[in-house]
Amino acid sequence: MQRKGIILAGGSGTRLAPITKAISKQLMPIYNKPMIYYPLSTLMLCGIREILVITTPFHKESFMNLLGNGEDLGIRLNYKTQENPDGISQAFIIGENFINNSPVALILGDNLFNGSDLVKKLKIINKKYSKNTIFAFPVNDPERYGVVEFDENSKVINIEEKPKKAKSRYAITGLYFYDKSVVEKAHKIVPSSRGELEITSLNKLYLAENNLNVEIMNRGMAWLDTGTFDSLNQASNYIRILEKRQGLKIGCPYEVAWRNNWISDEKFKESAVKFEKSGYGNYFLDLINEKI
Ligand code: TTP
Repeated sequence: MQRKGIILAGGSGTRLAPITKAISKQLMPIYNKPMIYYPLSTLMLCGIREILVITTPFHKESFMNLLGNGEDLGIRLNYKTQENPDGISQAFIIGENFINNSPVALILGDNLFNGSDLVKKLKIINKKYSKNTIFAFPVNDPERYGVVEFDENSKVINIEEKPKKAKSRYAITGLYFYDKSVVEKAHKIVPSSRGELEITSLNKLYLAENNLNVEIMNRGMAWLDTGTFDSLNQASNYIRILEKRQGLKIGCPYEVAWRNNWISDEKFKESAVKFEKSGYGNYFLDLINEKI
């Protein structure tokens, strides 16, 4: 059974208020694309073609208008809603029928990953359907995240959610690969003191079974979390600088679909026509004509 994917794009977005009163944070642009294009591209780069987008009831229609049923991208997109931001692990309960006993990858709708080795790595991890893999990335402010604790042999011994004093600089990123037992495990979790079904609680269940692989992301990889005004701006600048320098787009799901051979040249050209004036159109045509 192939791995399915979930993009969790609900949340309150309170750190970006008042903008998020009108627009979901995951639809805000990071340079030249809606934020959700990046996590969507990441799942597609893993080789995942059946994806559930979880949004708030208020924003569901906007996501559907943007992404449709996935046909243009050679994938299948499904939609569900989360009433309140009651925790990341709730995604597996909301998505229970969609998951239907498959292994699943979850990505947060505001997490942006980049790095060439990363894609190679993700493709391999995706194929290991009975393995559970999460990623740790060194940051300056680990207290904002789930933080990994290592023993003297660098073995992961614990994960703490938003600790007052972090035991390492390694934060857990918003990309998680789980086996088919994830739904059953999510049902076992009880809400934390802040009332959320924490992803850290789920990871701890796997850790207790000695069944959690924590991959360290090296310095050639980028993990950006785009939850604040400043990080939003930094992410836009990062993408702009790389794209201008290389002439290649980062996080463009149409390009990923075409490179994966999930859409034909014809279909890619149809999208090029739709996006003609934005610069995307010529970019798609240049790719087809091997000008890039
Ligand atoms: P948060 O960083 O908690 O982001 P948020 O949107 O809730 O914003 P704020 O903290 O400013 O109020 O969550 C990270 C991502 O996960 C974000 O894309 C929203 C999403 N999310 C959900 O969709 N549902 C949830 O229950 C939680 C906790 C997060």
